Parts: sequence; C-alpha cells; structure tokens
Amino acid sequence: MKIVAGDLTLGYEEAGAGIPLVLVHGFPSNRALWSAQLRGLSRQCRCIAPDVRGFGESDVAPPYSMDTYADDVAHLLDALEIERAVIGGQSMGGYITFAFWRRHRDRVLGLVLADTRAQADTPDAIAKRHAMMALARAQGASAVADEMVAGSTGKSTRRRHPELVDSVRAMYAAAPVEAITGALEAMASRPDSTPTLATIDVPTLIVVGEEDVLTPVADSRALHASIAGSRLEILKGAGHVSNAERPAAFNHVLGEFMHELAQ
Ligand code: MLT
Repeated sequence: MKIVAGDLTLGYEEAGAGIPLVLVHGFPSNRALWSAQLRGLSRQCRCIAPDVRGFGESDVAPPYSMDTYADDVAHLLDALEIERAVIGGQSMGGYITFAFWRRHRDRVLGLVLADTRAQADTPDAIAKRHAMMALARAQGASAVADEMVAGSTGKSTRRRHPELVDSVRAMYAAAPVEAITGALEAMASRPDSTPTLATIDVPTLIVVGEEDVLTPVADSRALHASIAGSRLEILKGAGHVSNAERPAAFNHVLGEFMHELAQ
C-alpha cells in the first residue's frame, strides 16, 4: 500500500486492529522485514510497517536523517489518523525510534528496540560507512547486500536456514543506491542517543539475537540498564534480524508486551 504522508508518498503495510504498533525496518531492508510480525500479531493489535524514505515503495527523496525519518513516521500516523502508537524499530529502525521519541514523545505508548544500540558511530564506523557509500556508487546495491548479509544473520540461521539468508540478501539488493547512501550518511551523522535513555518513561521492550554481531547483546544490556522498567529478551539462535530469524519467539515476547500494555 501507499499513502501520502507529509510531503512524500510512503509505502507501508498494515494488518489487524487494536493498539497501533509501528515497526520500522533496519538498513538496507524494507517493510517486508516485518512480514512475520504482521502475520503473527494482527489478531492482537494494529500492526503497521512503513518503508523508510528511499526504501521499498517510499519516495526516494532527500533529506536523509534520523530526524526526517522519524518525522515521516509521525506524518504516517497523521495520514492514518492515529494519535498514539507503540513505536518500534530494528537496528537503524531503532535509531529512528530514538529520534521519534525525542521529537514526538507525546505520541508514544511504548517502545520496542530490536537489535539496536544507543551509541553514535565511532570514527572507525564512520570511515566504514563512507567506504560502503563508495561501494554502493561503484558497484550497486547487490555489492552492498553481499557485504552486509553475513553479519546480519546469526551463525545458526546461516547453517540451518540458508533460504532465509537468501531472502534477506534479496531484500537488501533491491534497495535503491540513493536510499543506501542517504541512510549511510544519516547513520554516520546520527547523534548519540545515550542521554535520551534516561528520559524514556514508557513501557519498553528490548529484544536482541544472542548471535547478533552488528549490535551485540552487550548493547542491549546497556539499553536495559539505562531505561527504567524496561524488559530485555535475548533470543537464542538468532542474529541481527532476530525478528525474521526466530519469528515465533520474537512474536511471543512482542505479543506479551502488547498484551501487558493493553491492560
Ligand atoms: C541495520 O541493520 O540497520 C544496520 O546494520 C545498522 C548499522 O549499520 O548501524
């Protein structure tokens, strides 16, 4: 589906009714990352998965920053006539969730932080972003997908579910080069969200794959230690896209969280 949200058209998927739950995908994927959550949780809540600006069916249009991505989500809520929602994100989607909290906290019922971190990029990470931007421009999204996919999935998934690794790779390879370079620049220049954590006073679920090597368990433990009352779930046998790698386990903890929130 597509909808005009603010000054651009966003692709999104929606399923179910009840408390709105917005799930923002990571880099360089698209809303299909959340298909198992839309299928599994639609009997319980109104699940909405947008394509981040530039990705999927959303317009490819600058500027690219965590703030504009977050404002796009707020415009999507306006367009769907939703006042408040649970906002969640995987990895880069988590960075966007932090920005959403800073800019639109009155619209947040709860937060879901999946395989993400609060810290900004180190100088070394920024240099790697620039190298990946050069790779994307020279060799296209397929080369970026090749570079990203092994780190994105856990070793158990790579051994037991090569078909899932292939589908993640295909999703990455479908991203427009401008979306990739824009998101890399946006991630490289994002602020440190560590000071934000102490301001979070809504129910917060943190989920991480035990085999996540991009945003390891230690990053989620740090989020858990700094967000008062938060709940941390570590999923065995999953890597950086834990929601796609262990969908039933992920849906179970997210379903419980949404259930408790509804009480
Ligand atoms: C993602 O999955 O969104 C990226 O790995 C995040 C990052 O590179 O920092």
